[in-house]
Amino acid sequence: MAESVVVNHVSKTFTLQNARTLKQRFVRRSRSERVNPTFLALDDVTFTVQQGEAIGLMGLNGSGKSTLLKLISGVLRPDKGEVLTRGRIAGLIELGAGFHPQLSGRENIYLNAAILGMSEAEVNQKFDEIVAFAGINKFLDSPVGRYSSGMFARLGFSVAAMADSDIFIIDEVLAVGDPPFKKKCMARIREVRDEGRTIVYVSHNTTQVRKLCTRAIVLEEGRLSFDGAVADAVHHLRYDEDPSGDEDGEGGEI
Ligand SMILES: Nc1ncnc2c1ncn2[C@@H]1O[C@H](COP(=O)(O)OP(=O)(O)O)[C@@H](O)[C@H]1O
Ligand SMILES: [Mg+2]
Repeated sequence: MAESVVVNHVSKTFTLQNARTLKQRFVRRSRSERVNPTFLALDDVTFTVQQGEAIGLMGLNGSGKSTLLKLISGVLRPDKGEVLTRGRIAGLIELGAGFHPQLSGRENIYLNAAILGMSEAEVNQKFDEIVAFAGINKFLDSPVGRYSSGMFARLGFSVAAMADSDIFIIDEVLAVGDPPFKKKCMARIREVRDEGRTIVYVSHNTTQVRKLCTRAIVLEEGRLSFDGAVADAVHHLRYDEDPSGDEDGEGGEI
């Protein structure tokens, strides 16, 4: 098997902006507090994903999942360590990323697809399929700035899912979709997986991660705290102890 994603001793530091005004800065200084301190969003993370593997990336809010996906997709660069990927990457990392609010849904499909590396001919060929999957025909010529977050997710997912990629990345975006659309997305992601493409899937929905992935990685405060079977990851996170959790397979992905 070939390596698809290699994350090698990766760290990423962010600046916490706690003093945006001179007054705030003065107050912080007078209390001997640090002004705009830095913190480690990712701390020495190392793992390898093989081509065709479907891994679930789990962890509490703020644990560094989205940051890690941004490093894998190349939106951000690590401060330390290296991230290596093989082949084309498509997916949905942030709602609305790669969309222009004043352009129509139709125009944004072309824009978004171009960002994902699709040619105009490729989009022309797949256009009807993308629109049908998104189910937004009626609003195709309205500016996407007026779309609901669910409609954004539909359009973004549809474009990404139709792009030919070797690595497919999805970040919690399905959380805003309605149940029928989520179901459709899960079926599509399973198809993508069965085509032998690599999947990195971020979700708190343990049922979905169990169904889709054979391996899970857990981040805790920026550190990789678990890498192994999904059932063990769920136990590690203690997600299996909450009877009001999302074991129904639909909710709980906020
Ligand atoms: N651009 C940024 N600038 C400063 N802090 C950031 C930035 N992006 C993320 N963070 C912080 O990094 C931490 C990890 O964020 P994130 O990767 O989005 O977590 P998750 O996706 O697991 O909820 C959070 O504390 C978040 O506030
Ligand atoms: Mg996130």
